[in-house]
Amino acid sequence: MKREDLFDREQELEDLHNNLDVPILVITGVRRIGKSSILNVFLNEISYPSIVLDLRALRNNYGLKEFYEILSQGICSKLESLSI
Ligand SMILES: Nc1ncnc2c1ncn2[C@@H]1O[C@H](COP(=O)(O)OP(=O)(O)OP(=O)(O)O)[C@@H](O)[C@H]1O
Ligand SMILES: [Mg+2]
Repeated sequence: MKREDLFDREQELEDLHNNLDVPILVITGVRRIGKSSILNVFLNEISYPSIVLDLRALRNNYGLKEFYEILSQGICSKLESLSI
């Protein structure tokens, strides 16, 4: 999704751009409000390489192995665009 397809989220996008140096940013909101859409538009607009991980597959008390599996799948899926 591109910025022009995203309705009425200019302020939220500016907030993200203005806080690029913050180590952790949390986007919260009710289901289907557009959190993932804003994140994806933002990541497309910045020059940093990025990986989006969906961690909902992790069970309670997950181990590092499960986490690394999801992490490695994420890295593999972006390998072409991440390589220099
Ligand atoms: N500002 C917007 N303009 C246009 N379409 C939007 C906007 N926000 C959300 N949508 C649309 O609404 C749907 C839900 O958006 P999205 O998946 O980004 O929400 P979400 O908050 O991440 O949902 P979830 O809580 O399920 O993860 C998508 O089809 C998306 O394209
Ligand atoms: Mg989402």
